[in-house]
Amino acid sequence: MKFNKKITPRRMDFEFDENAIPRWWFADNPLMTHYANGLNLVFPEGERFFIRSVAHYLDQLDDDDLKERARAFFAQEASHGREHTHSFEMLERQGYRVSKYLRFYEKRAVPTLEKLFPPAFRLATTAALEHLTATLGERALADDVLDLAHPRMRDLLRWHAAEEIEHKSVAYDVFQTVDGRYWVRIFGMTFGLATLMLFWTIGARMLLAQETLSRKDKKYYQARIPKNRRNETRKLFRAAFLDYLRRDFHPDDRDDYHLAHDYLERIGRLAA
Ligand SMILES: [Fe+2]
Ligand SMILES: [Fe+2]
Repeated sequence: MKFNKKITPRRMDFEFDENAIPRWWFADNPLMTHYANGLNLVFPEGERFFIRSVAHYLDQLDDDDLKERARAFFAQEASHGREHTHSFEMLERQGYRVSKYLRFYEKRAVPTLEKLFPPAFRLATTAALEHLTATLGERALADDVLDLAHPRMRDLLRWHAAEEIEHKSVAYDVFQTVDGRYWVRIFGMTFGLATLMLFWTIGARMLLAQETLSRKDKKYYQARIPKNRRNETRKLFRAAFLDYLRRDFHPDDRDDYHLAHDYLERIGRLAA
């Protein structure tokens, strides 16, 4: 099944006002907030890595439609990075120190890892991580997980989720066109998942360490995380990983495009 739905880059210009958005913007809970912040921190450089990985192969693509989708994918990812970076500036204004972590992650960790692997492997890692971000995107739009978030952060994450769904098959289609080896694809998933979880966890812990929370406080906030949200990412990713192991896997096997379409239509941003 192949949908090739239209990919539309949008400029959003969210305003991240540190006086309007609380420090604990997710359910008034520092654990939930920093878990989400930790993921947000890995996005911009991760997305620039995705762009570089796919752009490396752009000239090798004969399919004009795929080339056009790849360019729209670049524009969407660049836009996500820009908006998330603005939200990090707000974190700094709220008193959190994130620049040191970002410098390490962006200037040391990602470039070092990138140099270790050949282009086909980097592309496979990108295709795999796009499957994971689309999985998270589907969850963000299909259920009420973000209802507990501050409206501005919710708007940011839902827009990002919708565009992740719109472009979810691009990197995968480029990988299948220029390489397509099963073991490279699976190796990319294993490496991508492990790296994502590592930097996500480091970022979340780094932020949490900046709170003055006693062990008792942490227990209190841990108990306030809704039961159905505990270990949710692990369960989601395990299912996504198993699905990805199918030899005939394709991102479009899951038709969740209507979620993106309906959300973007609701906010009046379907066209651009
Ligand atoms: Fe993105
Ligand atoms: Fe993406």
